[in-house]
Amino acid sequence: MSKNYYITTPIYYPSGKPHMGHAYSSIVADIFARFKRLENYNVLFLTGTDEHGQKIEKEAKKNNKDPKIFCDELSETFRSLTRTLNLSNDDFIRTTEHRHHKSVIEIWNKLADSGDIYLDKYSGWYSVSDEAFYDEDEIEDKNGKKISKSSGSLVEWVEEESYFFKLSAWSDKLLEFYKKNPNFILPESRKNEVVRFVEKGLKDLSISRTSFTWGIPVPKNEKHVIYVWLDALTNYISALNFPNIEDKKYKAFWPANVHIIGKDILRFHAVFWPAFLLAAKLPLPKRVFGHGWILSDDKKMSKSLGNILDPIEIIDKFGIDQLRYYLVKEVSLGNDGSISLENLKNCINNDLANNYGNLCQRVFSFIKKNCDNKIPYSTKLNNSDKALLENLKNSLPKLQNLMDNQDLNEYIKTVVGFSFEANKYFNDSEPWTVKKKDPERMNTILFTVVVQIKNISILLNPIIPKATNKVLAMINISNENIKIDNIKNEKILNHKKELGELEILFNKIENDN
Ligand code: ME8
Ligand code: MG
Repeated sequence: MSKNYYITTPIYYPSGKPHMGHAYSSIVADIFARFKRLENYNVLFLTGTDEHGQKIEKEAKKNNKDPKIFCDELSETFRSLTRTLNLSNDDFIRTTEHRHHKSVIEIWNKLADSGDIYLDKYSGWYSVSDEAFYDEDEIEDKNGKKISKSSGSLVEWVEEESYFFKLSAWSDKLLEFYKKNPNFILPESRKNEVVRFVEKGLKDLSISRTSFTWGIPVPKNEKHVIYVWLDALTNYISALNFPNIEDKKYKAFWPANVHIIGKDILRFHAVFWPAFLLAAKLPLPKRVFGHGWILSDDKKMSKSLGNILDPIEIIDKFGIDQLRYYLVKEVSLGNDGSISLENLKNCINNDLANNYGNLCQRVFSFIKKNCDNKIPYSTKLNNSDKALLENLKNSLPKLQNLMDNQDLNEYIKTVVGFSFEANKYFNDSEPWTVKKKDPERMNTILFTVVVQIKNISILLNPIIPKATNKVLAMINISNENIKIDNIKNEKILNHKKELGELEILFNKIENDN
């Protein structure tokens, strides 16, 4: 029986150009999705676009476009981003699709049926850019304007008829759930933040708007549109063909294993979404992981600061594996992290070109020259050869556990450590010296190091899929054999077939680049 794994990214507002934060959220989720596939899970990895609401309506107006046409264009930009980032998403959902519409209507009806919705009037602060309501104590004055303390975005006073969700009634149930499921919100610091927020007591949540029309109309009262966050969060089950809960996708994949999100949208995912699901009597996701913020030279990226690092430009210039690797190596998942061009170049040179890339290049060109371009086979491994290989194999349970806990940084550190070790092993063993007097020893060294390259490449595959696919193809390992199980499989290497051509994996970046 195959095991299922469902992982999601936030669905993006298609309101402008994709930026590094978008790229980061997606790449992180993609790495976990790819890793679970290597573990033979049947993975569903979802992303898409969040197209309703006042923010999008406003942006469309600014561009003199009908909102649907505006979304069609920008959603396509995000879809093409998934390809540029080499994402392995299995689906791309748009909230303007019919499958989503009917799912949101059903959620609304469920909340209404359970008595969790009532009609009243909302008066308070609203940020269009965050699509969020704020309390008086959550805003401050800045240059005569009111802004949200947490996001810094402008808020405006809103007074309108609105449906409310009885969020206040769910505080205790939520706290109980967090307690029973201590890993529901990760990292720990974010969990504490959420628990403190809920402990203060929750206020009922406005879940419809009447001052604009771009959204899904409320059933039986069409002058209201459904609050964009209730709409957007539902995408996670729309993609599983909810409301058909007998559907095999829904049965296989709900509840989701993990929603990967940025810390700015934690409250929506860790408080509102679970409360909606509790009220609708649907199972709650197993985990919400809130990653930190990508900063540029320690500052928020912004047009006015001129410190925007554009993901597309960087990929064009340096390559996608390079960006993927750098982002997850440099930024500690869960914390804010600063990135810079300077560090990116150093990282490409040190970790990719000089370490993993150089290891493959040297070993394979040596084999080409000295072994008829075939991987030697050997059973004469000495203790230090064995130790090198065993060390990696023995760490597998730990590595798998790290990935299950979204400890991506520790995972990478460990794997890169193996690569440094393998380089050192190759240097210290000096196959070029033993070549003449002890060709058997030379074969053993090469055999050992190729096994290690194979294993490192499998482990790095979720992070740098392009380069590792090339290396594994070169040693005649087919895509379907790129699996964690094959790390322990001694028979997977072909010693009779010649190696393929190896292109340069990572170009070194010179300083003037
Ligand atoms: O929030 N660093 O969409 P979005 C890291 N539509 N992550 C960042 C970031 C940065 N500088 N800037 C943004 C939305 N992000 C909603 C989601 S889900 C049902 C609806 C992350 O396009 C942000 O935290 O504003 C979020 O995870 C993602 O990019 C999309 O942001
Ligand atoms: Mg945002």
